[in-house]
Amino acid sequence: MFSHDTLDHFPKVSLLDDATPIQRLERLEQTLGLPAKDIQLFVKRDDFNSLGGGGNKLRKLEFIVGDALHRGADTVVAVGGLQSNFARLTAAVCAKLGLQCDLVLTSPTSSMPNDFARNGNMVLDRILGAHIHIVPTGITGREFAHEIAAKLSRRGCNPYLVELGGSSPIGALGYALCAFEIENQMRALGQSVSSIVLPNGSSGTHAGLAAGMYLAGKNPALIKAFSVLAPKEIAHAATVEKTQAVLKLLGSSVEANPMDIEISDEQLGDGYGIPTDAMKAAVHQMARTEGLFLDPVYGGKAFAGLLSDLSSGHYQSGERILFLMTGGSPGIFAYANHFLDEPAFD
Ligand SMILES: Cc1ncc(COP(=O)(O)O)c(C=O)c1O
Repeated sequence: MFSHDTLDHFPKVSLLDDATPIQRLERLEQTLGLPAKDIQLFVKRDDFNSLGGGGNKLRKLEFIVGDALHRGADTVVAVGGLQSNFARLTAAVCAKLGLQCDLVLTSPTSSMPNDFARNGNMVLDRILGAHIHIVPTGITGREFAHEIAAKLSRRGCNPYLVELGGSSPIGALGYALCAFEIENQMRALGQSVSSIVLPNGSSGTHAGLAAGMYLAGKNPALIKAFSVLAPKEIAHAATVEKTQAVLKLLGSSVEANPMDIEISDEQLGDGYGIPTDAMKAAVHQMARTEGLFLDPVYGGKAFAGLLSDLSSGHYQSGERILFLMTGGSPGIFAYANHFLDEPAFD
């Protein structure tokens, strides 16, 4: 029988303050007329951690940096987009632990607003003292990161290269642990969650959570993810594969069933990081009813999906829905122009 103590065998650094809070969204429930249907909404505040501005990636970094230190690394090399939240949090964790941090960042080829290159996470990465390398044209971020790591090794450093978004099986262990955290917290609230909604980018959060649910004896089919990066089929295949890899890493004989992984790409719009009207409406609604900031790239799109499912009658009476708030609010400042076009009040 699997016990959550199995996760204790993996090297880990402690980066979270405590269990992140689960809060009820009562004003939003009222605004949407949910009390009449006996539907309740909760948020798991994984954006709510002190280190580096918080966010889902801290859970992954607990195991990734634990592994890096175990292997004697003195430098962490992370790959991401210019506005990567994972890059910002890697830089913050390295600062706290006294490690060198090299960020290999890809820039979109099409013209981008000044805010995108010079605001949000880019500002924070610089404040945190990360070494920033912009990927030149003609080479992938991954290839360039390997070149940077080789250069660092020649200089006598011991670099540890992290997978995109920290979504390696080791990183995803953080969310396997989170599945147990959610289960315990909901039980303490006297509730049983019937649906968990979250964004899916590089799939590690979803895969880790799904693996943890299998191990906790729960059905991961109650998770619904909204892809913000890849079309549904690609995101689905990647998530099933990663879930299986996490189960294997944990020595479990459980087989991930593709039917248990539910992903929609209805909120993807024109692609990764490209704003949609539904995302903007979701960011506004969450802020104006609950005072909480969703990010425009991940949480905003996933929450738009939840709002759409609620209005189309996808959820039944008695449902208890938990939305995973994954952080990323610095991204708002990279998209400032999309939120400044509201008419001014008289
Ligand atoms: C704020 C935020 N939410 C969600 C995600 C998606 O997580 P994953 O890449 O594990 O699917 C990311 C990934 O970068 C993120 O930064």
